[in-house]
Amino acid sequence: MRRTLVAGNWKMFGTRQLVRDVIGELRAMAHGATEVVICPPYPYLGPAADMVAGSALCLGGQDLHVAVEGAFTGAVSGAMLRDMGCAYVIVGHSERRQYFAESDELVATKAEAAIREGLRPIVCVGENEAEREAGRQFVVVERQLAAVTARLGASAMTQTVVAYEPVWAIGTGRTATPGQAQEIHAFLRGQLRRLDANVAESVRVLYGGSVKASNARELFAQQDIDGGLVGGASLGAVEFAAICMAAQGM
Ligand code: 13P
Repeated sequence: MRRTLVAGNWKMFGTRQLVRDVIGELRAMAHGATEVVICPPYPYLGPAADMVAGSALCLGGQDLHVAVEGAFTGAVSGAMLRDMGCAYVIVGHSERRQYFAESDELVATKAEAAIREGLRPIVCVGENEAEREAGRQFVVVERQLAAVTARLGASAMTQTVVAYEPVWAIGTGRTATPGQAQEIHAFLRGQLRRLDANVAESVRVLYGGSVKASNARELFAQQDIDGGLVGGASLGAVEFAAICMAAQGM
């Protein structure tokens, strides 16, 4: 059985105090049944690493550069994230695709770089509002996932996590219904099965987009939803802990 994963993506929010508050709250309740990953902004990885030490929590980066090192001012490599204690890294978040013009090709290269550095990529896919209205959601997520599976192949795909994040649900309070999310998750699982049955059964597919304590349980109860990628609600210690509890109660 797949172990549930809840990842908190802080985006460009937070303070050192928030690191103390959220990790302090979660340390007490985290145990083995659900994996909890915090993805704070880069400057907070050091303090966060000190605080998660010896707990069941782990850390993730929000992005990485494809190179091991080099003259790329402002960028951070997978090797650095690993060195700071990260186990995961998000790639292909819709905000990276939209505001930093990241293509499917670049996302695949980033996923490959993550695997090379011993990080588990959390590969984000998801359609925007216009694409959903045009009924193109399946085509879009299939294309985004295929770019990564074609590059990584079955064996490396077992190290990845896939996150379905419909863009129209991110930060809008408009969560996909459990039925809408499950439909896409089952489709993504089917795409993974075409690559390899083992991959389909082992890869966790997370849902992201306005996950809150009040809707987490119902979302996580869906057959193909293996946890959540949580933005805004991961910035509140009590709220995020309640979402993790909902995941543990599965
Ligand atoms: P919200 O939970 O704030 O909608 O953000 C979702 C997200 O983008 C997580 O990566």
